Amino acid sequence: MEEPPYDLVILGATGFTGKYVVREALKFLNISPLKSLALAGRNLTKLNESLKWAAHPLPPPPIPLLLADVTDPHSIRRLCSYTKLILNCVGPFRRYGKAVVEACVETGCDYLDICGEPEFMERMEAEYDKMAVEKGSLVVSGCGVQNVESKNGIVCNFGSFESAVLGVANAGELRQFRRSRPPRRSPLIVGRSTPKGPLLEYKKQFGVWSVRIPSADSSVIRRTLFTLAENPQGLLGSNETLDDIEQRKKFWSSVKPARFGVKIGMKSFLGILRFIVFGIFIGMLAKKAFGRWLLLTFPSIFSLGLLNKKSPSEDEVNNVSFKMWFVGHGFDDNGNDKEIVTRIMGPEPGYITTSIILIQCAFILLTKRQVLPKGGVLTPGIVFGPTHLQQKLQDNGISFDVISNN
Ligand SMILES: NC(=O)c1ccc[n+]([C@@H]2O[C@H](COP(=O)([O-])OP(=O)(O)OC[C@H]3O[C@@H](n4cnc5c(N)ncnc54)[C@H](OP(=O)(O)O)[C@@H]3O)[C@@H](O)[C@H]2O)c1
Repeated sequence: MEEPPYDLVILGATGFTGKYVVREALKFLNISPLKSLALAGRNLTKLNESLKWAAHPLPPPPIPLLLADVTDPHSIRRLCSYTKLILNCVGPFRRYGKAVVEACVETGCDYLDICGEPEFMERMEAEYDKMAVEKGSLVVSGCGVQNVESKNGIVCNFGSFESAVLGVANAGELRQFRRSRPPRRSPLIVGRSTPKGPLLEYKKQFGVWSVRIPSADSSVIRRTLFTLAENPQGLLGSNETLDDIEQRKKFWSSVKPARFGVKIGMKSFLGILRFIVFGIFIGMLAKKAFGRWLLLTFPSIFSLGLLNKKSPSEDEVNNVSFKMWFVGHGFDDNGNDKEIVTRIMGPEPGYITTSIILIQCAFILLTKRQVLPKGGVLTPGIVFGPTHLQQKLQDNGISFDVISNN
């Protein structure tokens, strides 16, 4: 079969996140493995502006701009015929994502996105996993950052806020959908469970106030653990060597399934209080159409100034950085309690770090396709866990540290 002309296509390249993804991709253009790239969206003028913004201060490189609208399935299928891999930045995904996943699966094209919406991810797995395996299409959602402790506050574009509001509005549907699915085998988690702790607490260890929050991470990790329970040695690569197989088995035998929960942390008590009040407003208002209208029309009032309809400026994005702490509780070989604390740090999470992650996942997909599963709708953990993704992220400004191991 003839090779498609572009290594990858960025769909939704005109969006706030999309243009950061374009900027990250341009850093590597013409360096292996990115020999060719195209941008796609529904407006050529906006695509041109995006490319100019992303290339600045250099002149925009001659990159093909392709018209595609997710409400026109034919245009998305055409896009799939041009490339091996689509990076989807069109959201909210519950509204616009299905058509793109469907076109990729039907044509055997690979697909990555930055979705943070559990219902979309779980539905895509239920509906398309079987066909994706048959067609050899790898569909991996959630290649971004979800929840973090962030320095200098949080910057959030309206698109992410809208996706979050719609997620809360449809929380009942997600519960119903989960109940309708056949039960999956859970992994064996050895040892007693650690108490979740109070809803709001001061974490002296990190010097932050933290509050427990519902998170897309929990859904993604649960799905990773389900897949692992069904395939304790991970999933077969499409064309692995004996060394690749050994490496995959070694990696997965070192992974200990764990219960997982997420908290968001802030240095200031007032900051966390503001976040809680914002969460209460979303919880109260998002379920009714009028409440959603209020939230989406007056975001600044209901978020107590945390966000507004105006996109964050470049300076605001550049001023933010994040820390993500992982506190693991378990026991050693002699049964003594053990706590391991690790930390990931990096630049602004929602747009800069997310773009770095998405592009590095894409490069692994382009260079190491043979060690990755032939197809399926899978989580980033299952697909990229045994690869060198962590090293690549470290090389690109995201640090991973073990803070304590007692
Ligand atoms: N997990 C993470 O870390 C993370 C981080 C950031 C964002 N996100 C998610 O990414 C999504 C996008 O967020 P954003 O802030 O970038 O939103 P945004 O600025 O509103 O961008 C939306 C993009 O979707 C495109 N689009 C809308 N309808 C379309 C259609 N019918 N056909 C083709 N393209 C269409 C828009 O194109 P036009 O320019 O033509 O309108 C635009 O390019 C959201 O779901 C958000 O939650 C996730």
